[in-house]
Amino acid sequence: MNDNVKHERPNPARASAPTGQTPYSAWMRTDTLHSLQNPVSDHPGEHAWITSVQVSELYWMLIIRELQMAQAQLRADDLMQACRTLQRVVAHHEPLNATWRSIAWMTPTDLLSILSRAVATYGKDTALQGWTYRHMVYLLGIKEAEHLQHFTPQPQRWDQLRQALTEPSLYDDVLAYLHRNGFALPETALDRDFSVPYAPNQAVEKVWCDIYADPNGNLQLQHLGETLADIAEGFSAWKHFHLMATRRTFGARPAYFGTEGIAWLRQTMDETPFPELWSARGSIGDPPTVCPHMHK
Ligand code: HEM
Repeated sequence: MNDNVKHERPNPARASAPTGQTPYSAWMRTDTLHSLQNPVSDHPGEHAWITSVQVSELYWMLIIRELQMAQAQLRADDLMQACRTLQRVVAHHEPLNATWRSIAWMTPTDLLSILSRAVATYGKDTALQGWTYRHMVYLLGIKEAEHLQHFTPQPQRWDQLRQALTEPSLYDDVLAYLHRNGFALPETALDRDFSVPYAPNQAVEKVWCDIYADPNGNLQLQHLGETLADIAEGFSAWKHFHLMATRRTFGARPAYFGTEGIAWLRQTMDETPFPELWSARGSIGDPPTVCPHMHK
């Protein structure tokens, strides 16, 4: 051990929490945090509703930060660190999806007695007005410009989302990384207008097939692929829980756009991130062309 290296220990005497705070409350901002719930109704379950949505908001913001970090790591060709970051995103989806349990007790009467007070207090609301979810979705590569319309009252958030819409998604960075690291991809998959919906590409599917062709080859890239698949599953699971909660508490009545809410949500269920990572699975494996059960 080198005796010249000084290992400085933290000196608790030097640090101090602001007056009226403990170190814990100062760090976790507990007073601010617990001042952020303002119910609009006298329904005893509204605190559970607000907590559930606010916790989801925090997780979406956390996932945004992680996805942006993974993009920076991929751009720096640091695949190992990018995978570690993306594994955290997989982990965050577990508690995010578990939030649905906290409001599973709701009947239509419960939900509507809260929502009717929210409309009376703040006006017609929809969760489509939530910018964290939309930012996360844009980073996952599902780019739909029409959702910006909800943010005109929030110009700063409109700008933020417009930027996320026009910049590369995580998947775009994955493809660019693969291209730089020996997997030739067509220019159309790399140099494109990032604000338009991604169109799946056969050449990209072929690259994923090549990555998985040898079970013992490209292991780190296969790990990346499986981590992305886990993220897509976590995202789709959230959508499934949301659809079932809507069926349970709302039924087939018209929602924000005047169209039937369940029908609106069902058409979003096919929004699965990283499309060729999934479509390639029809051709990966030996023998690749048919399911073994078909030979019975
Ligand atoms: C359980 C009662 C709920 C019902 C009946 C419901 C209903 C709906 C409906 C009908 C839509 C489609 C857009 C619209 O017409 O507003 C929607 C979208 C959405 N809701 Fe909910 N929702 C519920 C709970 C929640 C909760 C608790 C959250 C957040 C934690 C949430 C987040 C979202 C998001 C992010 C969208 C946009 C989805 C997308 O773009 O695919 N919803 N919801």
